[in-house]
Amino acid sequence: MKIDLDINGAPRSCDVEPRTTLLDALRDNFLLTGTHAGCEHGVCGACTVLLDGEPVRSCLMLAVQADGYAITTIEGVATSPGELSVIQDAFCETHGMQCGYCTPGMILTAQALLDRSHDISREDIVEAISGNICRCTGYGQIIEAVQFAADRLKKSNAPRGHKLGTATDVGEHDAPLEGVLEAAEADAPGKGPTT
Ligand code: FES
Ligand code: FES
Repeated sequence: MKIDLDINGAPRSCDVEPRTTLLDALRDNFLLTGTHAGCEHGVCGACTVLLDGEPVRSCLMLAVQADGYAITTIEGVATSPGELSVIQDAFCETHGMQCGYCTPGMILTAQALLDRSHDISREDIVEAISGNICRCTGYGQIIEAVQFAADRLKKSNAPRGHKLGTATDVGEHDAPLEGVLEAAEADAPGKGPTT
């Protein structure tokens, strides 16, 4: 079956079997391998992409169900080649990743949250990423990364509901993290986000 998608702002088409998942179509047909296959049954969140701005698990969705929709993958979050989005940069700054396997899904989940509001609490972050499993970083640093990105975006004029600006759009990388580190320290590495 032929499907037409808008992927990262560009129209893309391909032929897929009716049984092909969106995850497999993105990786195999469009070679967007930043979308990771983890559990492949909806548990881990590694395969998260945005469908019209909302996070979905691409392993649970058939490619044909995405026909006509706008998809954002991790390859599409930065505004230009060689740049990082504010959220990506925040993950680097706060060491919000180790192996990186969960990171694309975490960042897209965080992007959906921050597209709605930059005024977010630690609880909002915990709730948003509660469906994304990380097995090696510890959620404290991931939560810190999202809060850091929110703090920086609040100081910028980046529009919400659109692609977030690059790190260089929002000032110095060593912006203060008052309160963020303190909150993150309470969340010991290896614990789930709800602990
Ligand atoms: S690979 Fe889709 S939720 Fe785990
Ligand atoms: S950074 Fe390794 S699973 Fe999250």
